[in-house]
Amino acid sequence: MELFDWKKLAFGYIKTDYNIRCKYKDGKWGKLEVSTSDYIDVHIAATGLHYGQEAFEGLKAYMGRDGKIRLFRWEENADRLILSAEGVKMAPVPTEIFREAVFQAVKLNRKFVPPYGSGATLYIRPLLFGSGPEIGVKPAAEYTFLVFVTPVGPYFKEGIKPANMLICRDVDRAAPFGTGIFKVGGNYAASLRALVAAKADGYASAIFLDAREKKYIDECGPANFYGIKDNTYITPKSESILNSITNRSLIDIAGTIGLKTERRPVPVEELATFTEAGACGTAAVISPIGKIVDPDKNMVYEYCRDGKPGPLTMKLYNMLVAIQNGDEDDEFGWMTVVE
Ligand SMILES: Cc1ncc(COP(=O)(O)O)c(C=O)c1O
Repeated sequence: MELFDWKKLAFGYIKTDYNIRCKYKDGKWGKLEVSTSDYIDVHIAATGLHYGQEAFEGLKAYMGRDGKIRLFRWEENADRLILSAEGVKMAPVPTEIFREAVFQAVKLNRKFVPPYGSGATLYIRPLLFGSGPEIGVKPAAEYTFLVFVTPVGPYFKEGIKPANMLICRDVDRAAPFGTGIFKVGGNYAASLRALVAAKADGYASAIFLDAREKKYIDECGPANFYGIKDNTYITPKSESILNSITNRSLIDIAGTIGLKTERRPVPVEELATFTEAGACGTAAVISPIGKIVDPDKNMVYEYCRDGKPGPLTMKLYNMLVAIQNGDEDDEFGWMTVVE
């Protein structure tokens, strides 16, 4: 019997059998520990709780038609967690410990990896936080790294379809020279007012503009933005956005299907010139954008008037998903089989 109705699974937390933990103490990392509990015992003065000393990652494991489980570009997530750790002065997790913890978490929870063809995947969440106590504002002396996994359903349960976005001018997600390039919890807390307001108005997410001038597109909720025009894939360059691994992969794929690619500041007015637009990230791969509304400027930018994602968006999406599922040749060397 199947463990779940995989196609109907939400993007939510489901308990699996094991998670992996590792502590940094006395200047060094300890041994990995396997736990069956989804709770942690945290010091009441831990810096992760008080001063936002925490960072996380998100990646997925995919079951192939051949019965092999593959991870997508896990080393990029390991590198980004090191960058984020340094960004908020935490002890970085060595790549080898990251690898061991992620692979063990997947292997031990093998039965939770959704079957090939279900569209569901195993989401992997590495988390690092200051677990040592401090009262003054300073970095902790102790850190906890953990990795849990949870199966998540297909992002688009009725097939990929365009979503509407709201431009937000009254909340900034991150400041120039702030923490926007790091995957730290504070950025997500800062984005919540805008995301909740956008959702309450019926939008899929909020588009954040650059905090300094409010002139350029920064990010699309918890995803990077891209627009396509004149056979060119264009995505924002900004000092306050997360360097999306999905976006970098789409840029590489765009190159192989004959698109030019540009990473540069994208002014809001340029939205009027794109023929396709989308938000990209691990969760959905691509969320095609149907409409972007800018209430303060009384503007609406429309992309999918027939209700369907554009052809280039679909091409990029299908190619990346096929590589991740192991259906397409892994010509970029992005996939690692979990043996
Ligand atoms: C703020 C933000 N931007 C972009 C992304 C997309 O990044 P990736 O493609 O590495 O998942 C994410 C999700 O991880 C995110 O949280």
